[in-house]
Amino acid sequence: MLKVQFMFYATDMKSLNMVAQLKHPVFHLLQETAQELGIPTYVVGGFVRDRLMQRPFKGDIDIVCLGSGIALAKALKKKHPKAGPISIFKTYGTAKLPIEDIELEFVGARKESYHPDSRNPEVATGSLEDDQNRRDFTVNAMAISLNKDDYGALIDPFNGQQDLKKQLIRTPNNPDTTFADDPLRMLRAIRFATQLEFNIVPEALASITANADRMTIVSRERCTEELHKILACPKPSTGFLLLEKTGILQHLLPELTALKGIEEIEGHKHKDNFYHTLEVVDNICPHTNNVWLRWAALLHDIGKAPTKKFIPPTGWTFHGHEFVGAKMVYRLFKRLRMPLNEKMKYVQKLVLLSSRPIALVDVQVTDAAVRRLIFDAGPVLDDLFTLCQADITTKNPKRFTRYHDNFKRVRDKIEVVEERDRIRNFQPPITGEMIMEYFNIPPSKAIGTIKEAIKEAILEGEIPNALEAAKAKMIAEGKKLGLKAQTPNDA
Ligand code: CTP
Repeated sequence: MLKVQFMFYATDMKSLNMVAQLKHPVFHLLQETAQELGIPTYVVGGFVRDRLMQRPFKGDIDIVCLGSGIALAKALKKKHPKAGPISIFKTYGTAKLPIEDIELEFVGARKESYHPDSRNPEVATGSLEDDQNRRDFTVNAMAISLNKDDYGALIDPFNGQQDLKKQLIRTPNNPDTTFADDPLRMLRAIRFATQLEFNIVPEALASITANADRMTIVSRERCTEELHKILACPKPSTGFLLLEKTGILQHLLPELTALKGIEEIEGHKHKDNFYHTLEVVDNICPHTNNVWLRWAALLHDIGKAPTKKFIPPTGWTFHGHEFVGAKMVYRLFKRLRMPLNEKMKYVQKLVLLSSRPIALVDVQVTDAAVRRLIFDAGPVLDDLFTLCQADITTKNPKRFTRYHDNFKRVRDKIEVVEERDRIRNFQPPITGEMIMEYFNIPPSKAIGTIKEAIKEAILEGEIPNALEAAKAKMIAEGKKLGLKAQTPNDA
């Protein structure tokens, strides 16, 4: 077993963070507690990896011990005045203990299948090395001793350090066994490769490809969490290309794989919308950390597969793909157990409006069309432009500049119209209550009809967005519906 003095790395890497973490009183307290219980104890997993890589500390610390993790967690809780409520998962022999801003997760070393959600929950007590061997990747299988004799020693039986240096994702065990233990690990491998900018070793990649359909047994929530993490990376295309190459994407997001390919009829070709989509996603990343805007970029063209048609002599059309795509967003969110709340509506709205700004680049565009876009987009207007700008993937520099210039013109136009008409946070100048009071009518369809007519008149530029003009319009519309004013003065 390879043992290296961990503190050496800390000083070597000048990582104050790491030294500080190891010097954190909780580690000494843990050492004391473990010693009292006679349970050898180690820090393991992401904490060790991230310290060695000098990545920021995320607050989670995984502890593995040769004994009962639950007993160790309970004993530590008793000793620490600021320990929060303990969560115990008896079936899996794990416990979680929050202490101030950190969360400790305890587990007893296992010989068999590691992960609680695994379909093979057989768990047998094992040595530290057994436990490390059943973890997902060598870079996640390193441990630091918290025991008196070798406090701080790095225990790395599967050469995790070497793989860190070589930037490799490798399973400690045979990849087929590691992935059979928990198929989510196939997705995790791709996520770590994207996040850490590592390569997956060929034998692991081959195993993922061979076992891709095992993803179907993993809960949607766990998959979605990984997809979110891939999308949160600076270059998500790395992950999506690997997902596609291994066959996993087909199981998770068939709407995206359906965009793959170029067809040619009568000399007319369309672009490969899958690769285009990935470019759009990468393009948007430097401009936003909003993962929902990144989802919108990923899904903005999904309506293109079901709407694709060849219409001679024009060529390929994707008529109405934005509308179809927005509807697909709902089904996709539902299937992936993503929130069906305002986040989903936000993505839907962006997909629905994704082609609108480009339609306005015509110099002749009317103020009414601009007002409509401002009204329809409302609070997502800026994000819509971020998306549309990322959507410019032409490799022709002249065209690239022209498209960007066109967008700039639309934005300028929007600014002028918005300054004048204040449509963006449009609040109808006449409310339903005002209409009911004016005509002395109960809630009814007429109120909606009048409100809609006022809104339309404002958007069309027929009347200004102002109270007096809107009131006059209300009276005129009421008359058309046979309504009479109740106040003699207003009649
Ligand atoms: N682990 C595993 N198999 C899984 C999930 C986790 O073997 N399916 C092990 C790994 O050793 C991992 C540790 O449990 O390092 C902690 O898991 P988790 O907190 O999910 O991952 P981290 O490595 O901490 O990384 P991140 O927080 O970025 O997900």
